[in-house]
Amino acid sequence: MQFKLALLALAGYSTLTSTTSISVPSGCSFSKTLTATAQSDLDDLSSCSAIEGDIYITGDLSTASIANVKAIYGSLSAFNCSNLQSLRADSLTTITKQLELTDLYVLDTLSFGSLVSVGSINWVTLPALTQAGLAAGVSDCQSIYISDTQLESLDGFNPINVETFNINNNKNLASINSDIQSISNALSVSYNGDDTNVTFDSLSWANNITFYSVSSISMSNISTVNSSLGVFESNVESLAIPSLKKIGGDLSIIDNDDLTEIDFSDLTSVGGGFVIANNSNLETIDGFDSLTTIGGAVILKGDFDNATFPKLSTVRGGFDLETTGEADCDEFNTLEKKGGIQGDKFVCSAATESSSSINHSKTSGSSSATSSGSSDESTSSGASSSSQGGAAVNTISVFGIMSALLLALL
Ligand SMILES: *[C@@H]1O[C@H](CO)[C@@H](O)[C@H](O)[C@H]1NC(C)=O
Ligand SMILES: *[C@@H]1O[C@H](CO)[C@@H](O)[C@H](O)[C@H]1NC(C)=O
Ligand SMILES: *[C@@H]1O[C@H](CO)[C@@H](O)[C@H](O)[C@H]1NC(C)=O
Ligand SMILES: *[C@@H]1O[C@H](CO)[C@@H](O)[C@H](O)[C@H]1NC(C)=O
Ligand SMILES: *[C@@H]1O[C@H](CO)[C@@H](O)[C@H](O)[C@H]1NC(C)=O
Ligand SMILES: *[C@@H]1O[C@H](CO)[C@@H](O)[C@H](O)[C@H]1NC(C)=O
Ligand SMILES: *[C@@H]1O[C@H](CO)[C@@H](O)[C@H](O)[C@H]1NC(C)=O
Ligand SMILES: *[C@@H]1O[C@H](CO)[C@@H](O)[C@H](O)[C@H]1NC(C)=O
Repeated sequence: MQFKLALLALAGYSTLTSTTSISVPSGCSFSKTLTATAQSDLDDLSSCSAIEGDIYITGDLSTASIANVKAIYGSLSAFNCSNLQSLRADSLTTITKQLELTDLYVLDTLSFGSLVSVGSINWVTLPALTQAGLAAGVSDCQSIYISDTQLESLDGFNPINVETFNINNNKNLASINSDIQSISNALSVSYNGDDTNVTFDSLSWANNITFYSVSSISMSNISTVNSSLGVFESNVESLAIPSLKKIGGDLSIIDNDDLTEIDFSDLTSVGGGFVIANNSNLETIDGFDSLTTIGGAVILKGDFDNATFPKLSTVRGGFDLETTGEADCDEFNTLEKKGGIQGDKFVCSAATESSSSINHSKTSGSSSATSSGSSDESTSSGASSSSQGGAAVNTISVFGIMSALLLALL
């Protein structure tokens, strides 16, 4: 049987950079999953330069080796083989579907020395694995998901354009430095080594970016996040993404205790909610010198002393600034009076700047800001994840009433 890459591409598989198409010899095509429970089952494949079908390794074997096979037009998976220590397939250049390794507790040696093209990589719970064994480097891969391994680096994972890149709970991973240029679905890096430094300096756009528990972020060439960007529970001291011009969805910067500095100096618009909350060492919320439009609600909470958005002219949702610090509300009061805040809710309350802090509801003209509640928080995930339970601002309400009365007079 002849089975060519061109046909696979037509059938909707990921496009492969490899231009060689390897014919599948007769006897090497399987309509049902080939289950290998012993090395002899894999030895039976050694006359196949290419295989059409899925291979599943399971059972008691402690080493598994696939010799001579250059291409698998299908998936290669191994799970439920608790003794598997080593898996080698050094001739293999291409796997069109998944390379899936799951729950292999003693696997400490992987060797895919020639592998360059894989539909997707899915490695979950490989607690003995420290090296990926991708000597040639996988340059073509749609989706990479690596969770709960002991990998010390992502050397060998070198794709240029991916849909998904999700790296989580790999406690030995101290840094990620990737040449990825675009991510059409989601980039997520969370809960790896305490000091994971994340560098994506070639990335020009990503649909969605989420970071938890990282220690530095460098994305020096990114211009667009089509959907949402969130940085949570991280020990980044400086969050500087000055090349970023547009965020289509929410921007969330929450619970980053070491954060002292933010620089998004080219960012002009955020399509969804805008939340900066609970960054306990952040004294000043600035670094948004070009930001003109926010499509959802603004929530700024914490203990900061100053917040400024010099070009901000339109907030389509509500506005809620509450700080135990000494922020000045003048800028936001002015914006609100000019009609720049379109949502019903407007709260700006700070520890000492009480004369300029107001709390009113535009709909009622009274001080009952709470009546305008839920719809103002109606941004997607980011903003809704922030609760209203922030700073105590009771002493402000009298000024709220005054301001509301003043505004009613205008
Ligand atoms: C795992 O493999 C063992 C044999 O090694 C088998 O008895 C068991 O049913 C398998 N479990 C699953 C979930 O496949
Ligand atoms: C991560 O970056 C920080 C500051 O940029 C640096 O001090 C630290 O040594 C880096 N950690 C690693 C593991 O590279
Ligand atoms: C930066 O991104 C642009 C596309 O926005 C691309 O043309 C350029 O090559 C990238 N530069 C680097 C250094 O990756
Ligand atoms: C963005 O990514 C996060 C984490 O991967 C996910 O929970 C969320 O649904 C994604 N959002 C969008 C709009 O893709
Ligand atoms: C995201 O934005 C970039 C830059 O504007 C664009 O090239 C890309 O097609 C967009 N991607 C998606 C998934 O919308
Ligand atoms: C707030 O920060 C801006 C920009 O850094 C500065 O111009 C302004 O004087 C500050 N306001 C207060 C009250 O500190
Ligand atoms: C706004 O005023 C209302 C009514 O006085 C009060 O219940 C609410 O707690 C105030 N909210 C803030 C954030 O000050
Ligand atoms: C900020 O921290 C407080 C207290 O821990 C919590 O109640 C609130 O939900 C947090 N806000 C956000 C936006 O995470």
